[in-house]
Amino acid sequence: MTRHFMTIEQQSDKALKKIYELATSPINDETLKGQGVALVFERPSLRTRASSSVAVQELGGFVTFFSDEEVGIDTRESAEDIGRTLNEMYSIAALRVRNHEVFKRMQTATNDQISLINLLSNVAHPLQAIADVLTIAEHFAKGDVSGIKGLNVTYVGDATNVTRSLAVALLRCGANVTVGAPSGYQLSAGGEEDPSAVTGGGTLTLTDSPVDAVKGADVVVTDAWVSMGMEAETQKRRNDLSAFQVNAKLMGEAKKDAVLLHCLPAHRGDEITDEILDSDKSLVWREVFHRRTAMLGVLQWIKEEK
Ligand code: CP
Ligand code: NVA
Repeated sequence: MTRHFMTIEQQSDKALKKIYELATSPINDETLKGQGVALVFERPSLRTRASSSVAVQELGGFVTFFSDEEVGIDTRESAEDIGRTLNEMYSIAALRVRNHEVFKRMQTATNDQISLINLLSNVAHPLQAIADVLTIAEHFAKGDVSGIKGLNVTYVGDATNVTRSLAVALLRCGANVTVGAPSGYQLSAGGEEDPSAVTGGGTLTLTDSPVDAVKGADVVVTDAWVSMGMEAETQKRRNDLSAFQVNAKLMGEAKKDAVLLHCLPAHRGDEITDEILDSDKSLVWREVFHRRTAMLGVLQWIKEEK
């Protein structure tokens, strides 16, 4: 069966375990020998485009990059016809999309023949979650993902696509996840990549108090207040979320040795201050490093001999 990577939620425990293992093992540089990966971006990217391009090349494959203007999903032609076209040329299509539904439509239109990877959608950023889990495991447990169990991880700010995937991944590892967000910006139950639907893992706590959220945290995580496509709400979001800025005072509520994660790009002075982002608590550059290892893990898992 063709393997896809659209959310963390859709992966079995076995698949996730294998992805984490492959991400940090020596690579087989013939995994993608002679095979193409289409990279389609409806929104801008630095880390995702870079890590995907490098990882594919390391595995012996090649990429073709397509911008929003060139492809025009549902404007120049339908998502279905784009999927069918990519299926004739490539073995994997990796896409950053405005609307998560595009993945299902392409999967159906191609009779499930081409592997699809989500490079960020409105509801999920699963590769970022894999990278963040690897970063936390490296810091707290010498890279052993099972060592994440019992850690307290707090996300503060707007509960985004990044929050949903990370919370699902961490809860599945047995971490206790707290999300501190004001009303209107908190995680909503239902839909795809739903942390509240995870069973048998860590605990999920939602609060509108940033201080309560951060108290006792081993890891503090934040993301943009204004995600891509929400630029018209910038001023309102700044006002509504100002108490959730990760600064020295808020970070002081966490455990003494707590660390910071941020997927980047950072909006310094909004959700995060320079003082914390550039401090020795910040693991953001290891997070960037692990974007590449996360992609190596996912690509090798997709191509694994079954
Ligand atoms: N974190 C992340 O996805 O960064 P880019 O938007 O630059 O790819
Ligand atoms: N939540 C952000 C993540 C950027 C990597 C966005 O969707 O723009």
